[in-house]
Parts: sequence; C-alpha cells; structure tokens
Amino acid sequence: MIRAALDRFSGRSRSAKPLRTGELLTGNPLETGPDASRGVILYLEDITVSFDGFRALDELTLYVGVGELRCVIGPNGAGKTTMMDVITGKTRPDAGSAWFGQTIDLLALTEPEIAQAGIGRKFQKPTVFEQHTVFENLELALAGSKSVWRWLNARLQPAEIERIDEVLEIIQLTERRYERAGALSHGQKQWLEIGMLLAQDPQLLLVDEPVAGMTPQETERTAELLTMLAGHRSLIVVEHDMDFVRSIARTVTVLHEGRVLAQGGIDEVQNDPKVIEVYLGV
Ligand SMILES: Nc1ncnc2c1ncn2[C@@H]1O[C@H](COP(=O)(O)OP(=O)(O)OP(=O)(O)O)[C@@H](O)[C@H]1O
Ligand SMILES: [Mg+2]
Repeated sequence: MIRAALDRFSGRSRSAKPLRTGELLTGNPLETGPDASRGVILYLEDITVSFDGFRALDELTLYVGVGELRCVIGPNGAGKTTMMDVITGKTRPDAGSAWFGQTIDLLALTEPEIAQAGIGRKFQKPTVFEQHTVFENLELALAGSKSVWRWLNARLQPAEIERIDEVLEIIQLTERRYERAGALSHGQKQWLEIGMLLAQDPQLLLVDEPVAGMTPQETERTAELLTMLAGHRSLIVVEHDMDFVRSIARTVTVLHEGRVLAQGGIDEVQNDPKVIEVYLGV
C-alpha cells in the first residue's frame, strides 16, 4: 500500500511540470528541476571550505547518482555537516564547484533558491509545529512559498489533499493525522518532518543523523522508509549508527579531514585498513 502511494507520488515528477510560456526554449532550471539525464544528480568537485585557515573540506570530490541512497560516515569533525551546508547554500566554499544535475550551479543560488530547485534538508532536531495537527503541518509544508495570508485564505485543492494523504501513508501517520504534532513520539516527529520535506517534492534529500534518539523499532521503520524512498528520490544520509548504516547502505562514503577516505560497500569500507585506523580507532 505504501509502495503504491510512493509510485503515485513520484509519478508527478518535477520535470513533468509543464513549462511556462517563454521557458520552452530557455527553460528555467529552478522551475523544471535538475537535468539528471546523465544519471548523476549531484556533482561536488574540489570543494574547499576553510574556517580561519582550518580546512573543514579539503578539495572534496563526490558524485551521487539519481535514485541513489548514499550513506556518508566519518569521525566527528570529518566535514559531513559542512558538506551538507555547502550543498544547501548555507556555507559558501572557497573553491570548487557544486552542480545539481547538469544545469543548476548551486554556488550561484541562495538557500531558498536551492530548496526551490529541489534539494530538501532534514536537520537532526525535529522542527515540526507542535501546536498544529499532523495534517496541518503537512499542509503548511505544501504551502511552501505561499504567504501565510494566502495560505489562511486558500482552500486546499483536491489534488493537494490527495498529496497530503499520500505523504501520510508513506510516513505511516495516517491514523494520527488529526492529532497535535506535539503528541507524537520523537521518532514519529522525525517521520513527520521527512513527510514535510516530501510534500515539497525534492529530488535530493539530505538527512543528518536521522535515528539519533530513536527506539530500535523506530530505527527499523526509518530504515524501511528511507530504503523505500530510494529509487524515487536521491538521498544522502549521514549517520553514526553503524547497524543502521548496514541496514540501508548500498554505497558508503567515508569522510576524514574533509576528504573522501574510502568509498564502497559497507563490508569493503569497514575492512579497509585506512578506515579502521582513522575511523574505528583500532
Ligand atoms: N562555523 C564554523 N566555524 C569554525 N569551524 C567550524 C565551523 N563549522 C564547522 N567547523 C569545523 O569544521 C570541522 C568539520 O565540522 P563538521 O560539523 O562538518 O563535522 P561533522 O563530520 O559533521 O562532525 P560530527 O560527526 O561531529 O557531526 C570541525 O573541525 C568543526 O569544528
Ligand atoms: Mg555533523
């Protein structure tokens, strides 16, 4: 059932949106979304970020494929969050290039423009509106850039209600839809926040430490949720919980001192002597 909802959901892809008049020739990549026709959704090349001379990212090069679920691990201070900050426009690199598909130069865009182009980010702490219901939280997320005034005065279109229903199904909160978000468990709040991102139809989702503080059952359901989203969306998941990484990972990138130390399957990287030395501290 959830899978059917996902299929319906992703059938309405951003690139299928009709172009506005005048865009037929030039196209507006912010509206039409990334051109990932070469199978790559994210290109980071030689990205360097310095804080007072300290290189948090040091000529980092990383590519993420369309529909891929990429796990990024690495010791504290490796540069994982800084990498997400660069992708979302929060931090400007000193050098390097960052492209979303082939046509969207992320370094030329502001944070809101990057979100509009189709990159969603989930921070570690859930930031749902506790006083509002689960449904209203999704409604607010869907409203996105609409002004609050317009949102308060607009009635939901049937297609929007359908979309919220689909998201509720995917995040398994259909039965809690009319409850206040504040009444949800920590794990459910995290799912609601993922749902709020999904309502905005991102092509690339960045998720920083999603299972921190979750119960084992919640962790397992989060693994199912992210695994199901992969293929429909591209995901970059940063997580320290290695059991969780093992349960979802296909390709794992290990960052260390702002560079890629190793990359490959989970067994491959866990048995890599370089990784064992710096990451596992053996
Ligand atoms: N705004 C900043 N000013 C100065 N130094 C910073 C800033 N942001 C990050 N750093 C430094 O850059 C390095 C990389 O930090 P980052 O937060 O990206 O690591 P991380 O891999 O996400 O670590 P963790 O696993 O602890 O979350 C760290 O040494 C950190 O102290
Ligand atoms: Mg971090």
